[in-house]
Amino acid sequence: MDLSVEIAGIELDNPIMPAAGPITGNPNVIKRVAEQGVGCIVTKTVSTVAAEVAKPSVARLPSGILNCEKWAEEPPSKWIEDYYPEIVKGVEGPIIVSLGYKPDQLRELIPDVEKFADAFELSSHYLGRNPEPIREIAATATDLTDKPVLIKLSPHVPSLQEFAQAAVDGGASGIVAINSLGPGLQVDLETMDSPLGSEDGYGWLSGPPIKPIALRAVNEIYNAVDVPVIGVGGISTAKDLLEFVAAGATATQMLSAALSDGAGKYREILEDLPPELSKLGVERVKDLVGAYKKIN
Ligand SMILES: Cc1cc2nc3c(=O)[nH]c(=O)nc-3n(C[C@H](O)[C@H](O)[C@H](O)COP(=O)(O)O)c2cc1C
Repeated sequence: MDLSVEIAGIELDNPIMPAAGPITGNPNVIKRVAEQGVGCIVTKTVSTVAAEVAKPSVARLPSGILNCEKWAEEPPSKWIEDYYPEIVKGVEGPIIVSLGYKPDQLRELIPDVEKFADAFELSSHYLGRNPEPIREIAATATDLTDKPVLIKLSPHVPSLQEFAQAAVDGGASGIVAINSLGPGLQVDLETMDSPLGSEDGYGWLSGPPIKPIALRAVNEIYNAVDVPVIGVGGISTAKDLLEFVAAGATATQMLSAALSDGAGKYREILEDLPPELSKLGVERVKDLVGAYKKIN
């Protein structure tokens, strides 16, 4: 059974990787994830300043997770001097470095971070509802580095297809979709409060409830652009992962299921993939990409 895939010239042993978040927020947790055999690592989004994150920042819902995390809570100097070198030393496979957000911030970060990255993933979570800034961040990053630049899209934009096209127009080599969905709210009726520490109590939804939206997003983007799509949102089983591949994802990411059940989730999925592929009569996972039949 062949689980290997290729993203923008980077060979991965298999199509599962962690999504940017707490599970990739320091070298120790990353080491634990890497030990599960994931195809590559994606680091927590770093920006030019440390994020101030209200606590609690993560709440478990009956199904899924609500969070008000932002980007990394350490300044970039901590990552550049300490975390990235340790991650590179401790991880064998490729490393995708997630950065945010605006062109000036990328100009400040990419030259210092480039030596640690096999590829970049740029979050567009705070860039608004107009596709032009997406084109701009892709163009800025591709001017600064020869390494592949992937753009991560959020589901609340007006047109995923236009945003994906803008990223490709700017030079992106791949699209990651989706970031968490929202904002959303959970109310504890005993306290009349939200479980999250954010000022309004609102947060972003991830995990199984967002899977249908993420699958549709991946399929829309797959139909719109000719670069690989990395699918993320609500995966917790090998079958979920294969649904993303069928909808058009070349590879996938997962976060919430590993936050809820532990990093062993990655290995569990990897072990379940070959038998699930056998059931479909597929020898190579890459042969399933876009097999979903209602292609527009
Ligand atoms: C606690 C938490 C923190 C996150 N932090 C980031 C981040 O720093 N950068 C980013 O691009 N996405 C971030 N995300 C979004 C995830 O990477 C992912 O896109 C989303 O959770 C959907 O995948 P999942 O359902 O497998 O969790 C975060 C999600 C959660 C739950």
